[in-house]
Amino acid sequence: MKIDGTTKLVGVFGDPVTHTASPAMHNAAFTALKMNWKYLPFHVAIENLKAALDGIRALNLIGVNLTVPHKVAALGFLDEVDPEARQLGAVNTVVVENGRLHGFNTDGYGFARAIQEDFNLGLQGRSVLVLGAGGAGRSIAAKCVREGAQHVWVANRTASKSDAILQAVGNAGPIAAIPFTNAAIRTIIDRVDLLVNATSVGLRPGDSLGLEPAFFTPKLYVYDTIYRPAETELLKLAHTADAKCANGLNMLLYQGARSFEIWTKDKKAPLAKMRQALKTAVYGGPQ
Ligand code: ATR
Repeated sequence: MKIDGTTKLVGVFGDPVTHTASPAMHNAAFTALKMNWKYLPFHVAIENLKAALDGIRALNLIGVNLTVPHKVAALGFLDEVDPEARQLGAVNTVVVENGRLHGFNTDGYGFARAIQEDFNLGLQGRSVLVLGAGGAGRSIAAKCVREGAQHVWVANRTASKSDAILQAVGNAGPIAAIPFTNAAIRTIIDRVDLLVNATSVGLRPGDSLGLEPAFFTPKLYVYDTIYRPAETELLKLAHTADAKCANGLNMLLYQGARSFEIWTKDKKAPLAKMRQALKTAVYGGPQ
């Protein structure tokens, strides 16, 4: 579709923003649906975030995604924040409605939908061990509680961050923090249905979480939020033990699909085209 005076714009604000696969995914969606929309990466330094968010209105953009380091800071500059994003303390999608900036967080949705599609697994009644308590760990743990998980354990190297999740999600929920040690994980692993890696360990070749191989059994579902490389050390270990495995590509896809629906007022996202574009952007071709 040619860019002209009627082209509508969305994009992503980040710093850095050079590695984002979102433009490929969203522009493929617009092309597939013959929409005259474009998705652009914007390199926005943190000190310019307020000006950039005001610019959404000034330039008449439809909305944006926010990525590192803007997800938390943006909360202070929006007119309305969806309750889930408010609870998480992080926004990844902004849309303009009647001149007002509304913030949402689609990461939890992306995770729940990925678990459904990759494992045919609902979160309700499940017991989940979340490794990591950064932004990804926080949205995943909160989503599990929201969806009625039976138990959620958060294991993080830095205990204060898992404690902060417990506070945000509500200490009364079925959620507990445990130390990030094999000894602590050993005491609960028999009860865990789904183990999620939400740490950044696995991004670099040879990175290992150091988990005991005995934790992995054919009844365990193992989800790694990392998608590049496609098979991390964790997934290799899980695969060897015949555990059910999936990487984070579908979480990325479905959080994007939900953003697309927010911007387009519930137009159905063309998932197959978006997935194909993501795989090409991330792996250099369909896998
Ligand atoms: P994101 O927003 O993607 O979740 P983040 O906020 O930088 O990223 O969080 C990274 C997560 O990986 C954190 O939970 C971090 O643990 P700490 O809170 O203790 O820093 C975890 N992490 C990073 N390197 C790790 C390592 N070598 N071992 C265990 N956890 C690690």
